[in-house]
Amino acid sequence: MSWIDIGHISDIPLHGARVVKTPVGCVALFRTGEAEVLAADDRCPHKGGPLSEGIVHGQSVTCPLHNWVFDLNTGVAQGADAGRIETYPLHIKAGRLLIDGAAVGKRSAA
Ligand code: FES
Repeated sequence: MSWIDIGHISDIPLHGARVVKTPVGCVALFRTGEAEVLAADDRCPHKGGPLSEGIVHGQSVTCPLHNWVFDLNTGVAQGADAGRIETYPLHIKAGRLLIDGAAVGKRSAA
C-alpha cells in the first residue's frame, strides 16, 4: 500500500462528507464518527448521484437523488437495491487522513 496524506479529520464535518482530489483521482470521504472517516467513490452506481451530498447515518450514506443506501464499509447497496461502490483503505494518524493511493489509482486506471 502507498499511503497518501489527503488532509486532516477536522476538514470534514461530523456526519458530513467531502470530495478530495488526490494525485491518483477523486474520492469521497465520509466522517461517520468523532474519530472515524471512511473513503469511497462519490458516484452512485444507480444514476450517478453525488454521494458526498447525501446523508451520512451510522456507517452508511443515502444517495441524495433516489435514496439508495450504501454501507460505507463494504460499498454494497442495502435493502432491495443492487449495486456497489468502491471503498478504499484509509487510516488516521494523529488526525491526518491517509488513503491507500494504490487502491484509488487502480480504480482511476480502470
Ligand atoms: S442516483 Fe443514487 S439512488 Fe439514484
